[in-house]
Amino acid sequence: MEIQSERELAAITRLKDLFLGLQAERYVDIDRRVQRPVFLKPQGHARGVFTLQPNLPEELRIGVFTQREFSAWVRFSSDTVPQVPDAANSTLGLAIKLLGVPGRKLLEGEGQALTHDFVLQNHDVFFSDDAEAFADFIEASLSSAEAFEEFLASHPATDAILQEMAKEEDSVLLARYSSTVPYAFGNRFVKYAVRPGRGTRPPGPQAERGPDFLRRDLRRRLLKDGAHFDFFLQFQKDPEAMPLEKATVRWSEELSPLIKVATLVLPAGQDIDTPGQPEAIDNLSFSPWHALEVHAPAGSINRARRAVYKASADYRRRRNHVPISEPLEAV
Ligand code: HEM
Repeated sequence: MEIQSERELAAITRLKDLFLGLQAERYVDIDRRVQRPVFLKPQGHARGVFTLQPNLPEELRIGVFTQREFSAWVRFSSDTVPQVPDAANSTLGLAIKLLGVPGRKLLEGEGQALTHDFVLQNHDVFFSDDAEAFADFIEASLSSAEAFEEFLASHPATDAILQEMAKEEDSVLLARYSSTVPYAFGNRFVKYAVRPGRGTRPPGPQAERGPDFLRRDLRRRLLKDGAHFDFFLQFQKDPEAMPLEKATVRWSEELSPLIKVATLVLPAGQDIDTPGQPEAIDNLSFSPWHALEVHAPAGSINRARRAVYKASADYRRRRNHVPISEPLEAV
């Protein structure tokens, strides 16, 4: 859990500076509110109910997986700026905030918070192995088109994962999400996965594909049908084949099948355009470090996220005159 080396510490400092720079730059474009530096195109949010599977075996009853039910807030987003059409960027984020979770949380200054977050995206590996590789990637991507091309040519694994991530998505309610990086589960390690439950229908052939079709699709579906997701754990079975420190390595589902532990239901009748609510959800901070210690984030990428998410979330909320606090229930 602790930072592993001087090099890692230096990489985390670089990442913090790079992300705060990106945040300041992207602020100029959008309605005078400071946004997240990434995943800043909101696709909508929902109120949900996170319910444990009945008769969960004793060995899975740890931390948040001991309480039968939590209410939750969910934020769907795209990893781009709001002006970019949905078809041009298909990296989706799913952030889940469980409410009313007792126990001390890991994030500095927020130990008493009654929330536990899961932060996922619609791909099961990350495109950089560790904090240092990710800082190099971001620096190259922000320098020049030629430098970035050169970087990708000399990092074929990163390039290949970025190409996989460019897959098309029809609906944020039909995407398959993963934590992509690992977390402790007591004295073992897991990745989290969230998949659409049965009953979420694909869009018809005539479905509209305007610049904001994902948001419109979500609004329509949540008003009428609501949505249903299944929540899974995937255990680390072999530290060589399923490493903690190399985030580009896929954890094979043959070696370690997903185990369903909960459902996440988003009840019908919710309007994502309810006045004031989109801003209130955007003002929240979802962080892997809003977590109980038994579920501590693991690996270099996660260690970097601890300081960077806090710096970003505190900065935007200070600048937007929003309190830096975790919700109890209503937002
Ligand atoms: C060192 C690696 C990473 C860094 C530095 C980083 C940085 C950030 C930052 C600064 C934010 C905005 C925080 C805020 O203002 O509230 C953010 C949001 C987000 N990140 Fe990362 N990230 C990293 C890795 C990842 C990984 C591995 C995932 C995969 C699940 C991920 C998924 C997301 C998502 C979905 C959001 C939006 C959460 C929300 O809706 O509030 N990030 N990231």
